[in-house]
Amino acid sequence: MADNQKDEYAMQSERIRERMDRIGRKIVVMSGKGGVGKTTVTVNLANMLVDMGATVGVLDTDLHGPNVAKMFGVENATIDSADGVSFIPVNPRPGLKVMSLAFALEDPDAPVIWRGSMKGGAIRQFLADTDWGTLDYLIIDTPPGTGDEQLTLCQSIDDITGTVIVTTPQDVAILDARRSVNFARKLGMPIIGVIENMSGLICPHCNEEIPIFGKGGGRRMCMSMGAPFLGAVPMEMDLREAEDDGKNWNLDGASHPSRDAFYAIVDKIHNGNACTTGRDMSFKGTSKCNPSNCAHCTSNCSSRNE
Ligand SMILES: Nc1ncnc2c1ncn2[C@@H]1O[C@H](COP(=O)(O)OP(=O)(O)OP(=O)(O)O)[C@@H](O)[C@H]1O
Ligand SMILES: [Mg+2]
Repeated sequence: MADNQKDEYAMQSERIRERMDRIGRKIVVMSGKGGVGKTTVTVNLANMLVDMGATVGVLDTDLHGPNVAKMFGVENATIDSADGVSFIPVNPRPGLKVMSLAFALEDPDAPVIWRGSMKGGAIRQFLADTDWGTLDYLIIDTPPGTGDEQLTLCQSIDDITGTVIVTTPQDVAILDARRSVNFARKLGMPIIGVIENMSGLICPHCNEEIPIFGKGGGRRMCMSMGAPFLGAVPMEMDLREAEDDGKNWNLDGASHPSRDAFYAIVDKIHNGNACTTGRDMSFKGTSKCNPSNCAHCTSNCSSRNE
C-alpha cells in the first residue's frame, strides 16, 4: 500500500471508530449457509428492539443480494447526503435507520459483480460515512459464509458486541453453522448465540407442526460446541408474506408462534443475559481483548471486573 493510501485507510479507520463510539451494541448476524433466515432475523430483531423502546440501525452488507430494504418496505429509497460526504440512512419507522447498497442500485435486477477487495472497501465506506447519530444498536446483516464481508467487519469494528448465528435444523446447514461458530472464535468475536430458524413448519390449515427440516439440530450443535443457544423459530406462511410485502408483522394483531419465538429471543438479547453471561469467552486473551476495549465490553470477563 502506498503511503497516501495508508493515510487514507488510517483516516477512514478513525472515522469508523468515531461513528461506532456513538452506538451501544453492535451485532453481526451470520450463517454458514444461504437462505436460512439471516435477513429475517435481522429485520425481526430490529423491529422488536424498536418496539421495546430502543433506537436501532440496520446495515445490510449483503452486496450481492441486498434484501433488507425490501423486507422493511423501503426498496425504492435512495442514498441521500446533506453535506456531500456522509450518507443519511433511510427511516422505515421512527427509531429505525437503515443503510444498504440497494439504495444505490439503479436497476434492482442488475447483478452486482465485485471482487473481494471492492466489497471490503464498500463496507468500510458504509461504516465510515453513514451518519447513524447515536443508537442503542447496530444490527449488521451479512451474506452467507465466512468471507470478505464478515472479515472486513471484524477487522474494522473494534468492539463488536457479538454475533448471532442463524441455522436451520438439518445436517447440511449445521455443518456450515459449525464453521460460523469456529470463524467467530478464530477472530475473537463473541458469540451471543445461535438461532434455529425454520424449526418445523406451522401448517396454515390445521396449525400442526411439520418437521420439514427436522428439529433440534441447532440446540444439539450448541451443546456439542459449547455455544449459547438462543431459541428455535418455526416456519410460518404469514411471516414470509409479511416480508415479501415489506410489512412489520408485529402490528397485525394476530397470534403467531414464530413471532412469539422471535420475541423471546429478542427479549434475551435486550433484557436478559444473552449479551453478558451467555457470551462465549473464547475471545479472552486474543487481540480483541485488551484494556482499551473494556469500557465497551459487556461481558463478565474477570479482567473487566477487576
Ligand atoms: N421462520 C420463517 N417462516 C417463514 N418464512 C421464513 C422464515 N424464515 C425465513 N423465511 C423466508 O425464507 C426466505 C429466506 O429467508 P432470508 O432471506 O431471511 O434468508 P437469508 O439467510 O438472509 O438468505 P440469504 O443467504 O440469501 O441472504 C425469505 O423469503 C423469508 O421470508
Ligand atoms: Mg439475507
